[in-house]
Amino acid sequence: MSDWVAIIAADELADGQMRAVDGPDRKLLVARVGDEYYVTQEHCPHLGGNLAKGTLEGTEVVCPLHHSRFDVTDGRCVRWTDWKGAVLEVAEAVRHSRPIITYDVKVEDGEVWVGAARPVAETSGPTDQ
Ligand code: FES
Repeated sequence: MSDWVAIIAADELADGQMRAVDGPDRKLLVARVGDEYYVTQEHCPHLGGNLAKGTLEGTEVVCPLHHSRFDVTDGRCVRWTDWKGAVLEVAEAVRHSRPIITYDVKVEDGEVWVGAARPVAETSGPTDQ
């Protein structure tokens, strides 16, 4: 995706809100933190949870299914599930932690625009939480 596409009116989101929107070629998550807007992939890279149905805590979106946390500013995985001990080790072995895709964003003419996907962030690796 190289062109900018308007995805939502900027005033449709208040500070601390997020929403799933239709992007040019996939569902996207748009989140507002203060006066900044962030756009990421909408599905969780763990097992496909709908991130828009999770919670936004500061700049971190928490998946509603197993509570992985991702930073919407750079896509970094902050916590890979809330599983612990051997269960987490098995989960990591089966499907290691990974970031979410983030996109270039701009606000213009009252609209939030999405641009190209950004380089993928480094993950935090296995969680210690
Ligand atoms: S599907 Fe999101 S944490 Fe499992």
